[in-house]
Amino acid sequence: MWQARIIIHNGRPIPFEEARIHPLALGVAFGIAVFEGLRAYRHPTTGRFAVFRLEEHLARLGQGMKVLRLKDPPALDVLRQAVLDVIRLNEPDDDAYLRLQVQIEGMGMMATTGPVGWIAAALPRERSTKFATGLAAQVSSWTRLPDNAMPPRVKASANYHASRLATLQAKADGYDSAILLTARGKVSEAAAACLFLVRDGVLATPSRSSDILESITRDTVIALAREQGIAVEEREVDRSELYVAEEVFLCGTGQELVPVTSVDRLPVGDGTPGDVTKRLQAAYERVVRGTTDAHPEWRTPV
Ligand SMILES: Cc1ncc(COP(=O)(O)O)c(C=O)c1O
Repeated sequence: MWQARIIIHNGRPIPFEEARIHPLALGVAFGIAVFEGLRAYRHPTTGRFAVFRLEEHLARLGQGMKVLRLKDPPALDVLRQAVLDVIRLNEPDDDAYLRLQVQIEGMGMMATTGPVGWIAAALPRERSTKFATGLAAQVSSWTRLPDNAMPPRVKASANYHASRLATLQAKADGYDSAILLTARGKVSEAAAACLFLVRDGVLATPSRSSDILESITRDTVIALAREQGIAVEEREVDRSELYVAEEVFLCGTGQELVPVTSVDRLPVGDGTPGDVTKRLQAAYERVVRGTTDAHPEWRTPV
């Protein structure tokens, strides 16, 4: 597998290992950073790379920088170019996982808003080992962050402290993944992925006011499902619906679409990945990799 060799830090390509930031910078001290995880997929015959939904990732990062009130944040045009450059500079021979991150690099007090720095990185990342077989999920006793404390629609680094606690608990208890509930006890999402379930043939996913990250993969899945004639509902989802659903799956840029085959040790459906999940996995694979002509606007050629 290829290795990350170059990282772009504040516009300068440097060797990956040489990136530095002070431990007392607010980005480290208080986790004041926002980021995006993106993927560049390699076309199976042409070998050319395309970044999936780059514009939507940039737009969400822009929203995050605004909510965190970062001073003099980098321009989205600069970040767009850096994403394309960092892929070329690393010369991957397979799919790349990309990280754009904007952090406060200055020291200071709680209300310090700069100076702001940023990185663009390209890393190898394999597909989830559970992609075909499905994973065992646990409904976590940790609660999803509420919007009026740490807004989950902002992809802030500090938010992942909560996701990490839930993941550590799930692993310690012998599960693969955690599903978090909102403070009101409704289903929100997994630690780093959104959630769908199939009930009576209808695809349902927690609404945007269920303390989810407004996931780009979730948006993609909704569009692909509707194009296939599958009805989709964005609504509140009860915990017990997870136990009686025909199918459950998680989705995100990193995880792509992964079936959930049990929740709290109860099998989902017959305990194997369901048909709707498999159909959507295949449709997702075609559209991200560009083996279909559909949605060219979602793929930015490198
Ligand atoms: C908490 C959380 N929810 C959902 C997602 C999925 O978001 P996206 O599809 O935009 O990658 C992620 C992605 O990393 C995430 O961290």
